[in-house]
Amino acid sequence: MTAPASLTALKGIIFDLDGVLVDTAQFHFRAWKRLAGELGIPFTAHDNEALKGVSRRDSLEHILALGKVSLTEEEKNGRMAQKNAWYLELVNELPPDDMLPGAKSLLDELRTCGVRIGLGSSSRNAELILQKLNISGYFDGVVDGNKISKSKPDPEVFTLCALHYLHTQPSDTIVVEDARSGVEAARAGGFFCVGIGHLPQADMVIASLEQINATLLDQALQAYRSV
Ligand code: BG6
Ligand code: MG
Repeated sequence: MTAPASLTALKGIIFDLDGVLVDTAQFHFRAWKRLAGELGIPFTAHDNEALKGVSRRDSLEHILALGKVSLTEEEKNGRMAQKNAWYLELVNELPPDDMLPGAKSLLDELRTCGVRIGLGSSSRNAELILQKLNISGYFDGVVDGNKISKSKPDPEVFTLCALHYLHTQPSDTIVVEDARSGVEAARAGGFFCVGIGHLPQADMVIASLEQINATLLDQALQAYRSV
């Protein structure tokens, strides 16, 4: 067995959940599209990019604004409950070991190297998904939509996770995100941000977690901090 990599800069890492560790971003999209369809609002994958990382309520408001539809508070609550029920139906079909490529081995390696691992998600379903995937044990801290008052792009989710749960500083902690709002949140909080997909605002852009490992992340953070 090879010895764990010895890291100098990286103390903590915070993963977004949907679209980073597990392919649930597509389930959110499908459920919102169904809801938009019922309201007669056209809703494309392109429109959905603005919803990634955004809370359930803000997402609904965004779709209603797209269609110039107004609803009462009671109707909004009903629509959000319906969207969540559809979303959970889709999640139910998720096989227990269905993490995105590279996610499990990266978590294993980071843990072996002693990096503190956090989850920073806007979702109120995050704990449920972690349990379903049987990966709750990897995390030193989980901050989800139930614990924050301001959703991404506000940095609260990451700042709370690092300072309060991981006991690390933004300067020695990396955030991994797949959403524009998440990259913005991470950078606003002073974190080095790895973006998955087309996210030119991120400090490092990758196509998949398979492309990174603990040593690469440590080197990238060192280079960034020494500029
Ligand atoms: C984020 C997703 O992780 O959580 C968003 O990227 C979603 O698409 C948000 O709207 C809130 O999720 P939930 O599960 O609380 O409705
Ligand atoms: Mg995401």
